[in-house]
Amino acid sequence: MEVFKTVNSLRNHLSKIDQNKNLGFVPTMGALHDGHLSIVKKAKAENDFVITSIFVNPTQFDKEEDLLKYPNTIEKDLEELESENCDFVFIPTVQEIYSNIVKSDNFDFEGLDAVMEGAFRKGHFDGVGTIVKKLFEIIKPNTAYFGEKDFQQLQIVKKMVEKNQLPVHIIPCEIYREKDGLAMSSRNTRLTTKQRNEAPLIYQTLLKSQDLFADNSVEFIKSMVNNQFKNNIVLQLEYFEIADIQTLKATDNKISGTKYRAFIAVFADSIRLIDNIALN
Ligand code: PAJ
Repeated sequence: MEVFKTVNSLRNHLSKIDQNKNLGFVPTMGALHDGHLSIVKKAKAENDFVITSIFVNPTQFDKEEDLLKYPNTIEKDLEELESENCDFVFIPTVQEIYSNIVKSDNFDFEGLDAVMEGAFRKGHFDGVGTIVKKLFEIIKPNTAYFGEKDFQQLQIVKKMVEKNQLPVHIIPCEIYREKDGLAMSSRNTRLTTKQRNEAPLIYQTLLKSQDLFADNSVEFIKSMVNNQFKNNIVLQLEYFEIADIQTLKATDNKISGTKYRAFIAVFADSIRLIDNIALN
């Protein structure tokens, strides 16, 4: 496994690869867990070479505190990538990516960024679009892998690729969970024991909404979800929405032929956890 810190050294190396070989790209912010590694495994099985990036992108954080507290486990990350037979790792500095102007570009995601995570985290998706586009331009992968854990991010990246006609194929990856159902996340390590013990309620609630979806109204499901969290002193519900998977617009009425997912965001103190599930 080869590790690159600069754009030049990486470009230099990648330009020597046989252009008929497939390069799969897994963008991450590090603090890798089994969810990330499941993506690397999939990418490895489907490509000749896999490159993982580790870059905590400052422009996508709406809260300075989250950026400062973002875990750094670089030594362990590199060991784990090596055991997954990842071929290349790109670990640039902020200076290398942004020079002296640490700012997002403005994107038109056709409203995909106006809801849910976009509504609650101002500027977040412009930051994601900026870094993902920059990384695609540097790495020029054939395929790039994104987790359904961040389903809105996945749809936004697909939209950006389509609108800019970028020559990369976006591959969705299933949500990887702990045994008790909690979606794996780098933030889980920040949970106290009490918070960690309560956190499976998030997935249990999603499963319940999936169960109820065929025979009940959206309003009924939403009131069930509100009741689940109403008296919980450890977890606070930020939003629960049932949305069309293409437009991500929340719905109050089910339209036949439309595919829906349920999306949830919950706070355990200041730690924000998100999850989602397919409903039909
Ligand atoms: P990060 O949170 O490190 O996640 C990297 C990739 O792993 C994303 O595609 C994310 O959806 C996926 N992922 C995280 N947890 C997962 C889980 N439990 N199951 C499946 N996939 C999971 O998402 C980002 O970084 C950044 O926004 C990034 C795309 C790297 C741009 O900075």
